[in-house]
Amino acid sequence: MNKTACQRVFLSRPVFLTHGVCSAGTHYDYRPQRVVGSSFHFCFAIVPFTDYIDEAGPIALSPGSYKKSTIQPSDGRVHAVEAAHVPAARYVELVNPCLKRGDLALMHCFCWHHAMPMHPAFKGLRHGLYMKLRAADAPPAVGPLLIPTVAHEALPAAQRHAAPYHRESGSQTIEHTAVVLEDGVGRILVLTADDTLSLPNCSTGQEPHDALETWSQDWDASNVIGEATDCIESLLSIRPPWMSWIADHKTTTPDGGEAICRVYGHRLLDGEEISELPPNAMWIPPAAVEQSEREAWERGGREKDEIGMWLNEQDEAGEPVRRGYGVASGEVG
Ligand SMILES: [Fe+2]
Repeated sequence: MNKTACQRVFLSRPVFLTHGVCSAGTHYDYRPQRVVGSSFHFCFAIVPFTDYIDEAGPIALSPGSYKKSTIQPSDGRVHAVEAAHVPAARYVELVNPCLKRGDLALMHCFCWHHAMPMHPAFKGLRHGLYMKLRAADAPPAVGPLLIPTVAHEALPAAQRHAAPYHRESGSQTIEHTAVVLEDGVGRILVLTADDTLSLPNCSTGQEPHDALETWSQDWDASNVIGEATDCIESLLSIRPPWMSWIADHKTTTPDGGEAICRVYGHRLLDGEEISELPPNAMWIPPAAVEQSEREAWERGGREKDEIGMWLNEQDEAGEPVRRGYGVASGEVG
């Protein structure tokens, strides 16, 4: 990937299960609505623990197919993907790499692939290690998968940067969401109440829950783009068609628990006209954001950092990033 790798998903429970019990259609894994697929620069690392013989339902790959989807230049903030249309499997050159125990397969997120049918007698016998790793400069558009904190802390300190997003319960619960909304001339929508500034934000209504047992089953629960879109609609009567993740802001609740605010960005497109702002909202230019006191903001000035990350196309460390389009769960099949 020519960049530092950052973990997207480590299949801790399904790791010992199969890639697919029965034949799955030819596809690639990039998905703008999925936390494990919305980065456009990730690779899937597969290490079989058993030989992937024909009866095991081996994975078949289409050599060079990843070149058929391309990342478009950005005119600012986000990059579009010109995504390839995958023809039916019979029209695709698919190669079975005949993976053996201990091999390593690296598959680009745009690579067309196909899980071959598995013989029923083999069910549960195909074991492997499956990890998705993204380039550090291509953040997930709908936000990161949150790993259990215990898994993060199990890593040597020098390696924890590779799996930075975690929460104690291991669940994908996101309690709040906020939006950096930019207009066509670079101004940011800010709300004011009692001399306090804030970004448009709302509670998601998600209840924290212990998800260590179901960790692999609620991967998409942290995609709160739908809730963020509802928040903007209630304020401005428009529904932005996409958002892109900027950062998570973790706070401590009064009872000592964790709460996460997932912050997205959106720049208004031509045609996304806002007729009238509510009385507590105003557009302010970046210079005014810069000059504002951190104490004036609802979340202690963290909002200034998030606005800067969005406008300057940077991550929390100030490194350049290439963001992509994220959409709400259910928007894309
Ligand atoms: Fe796949």
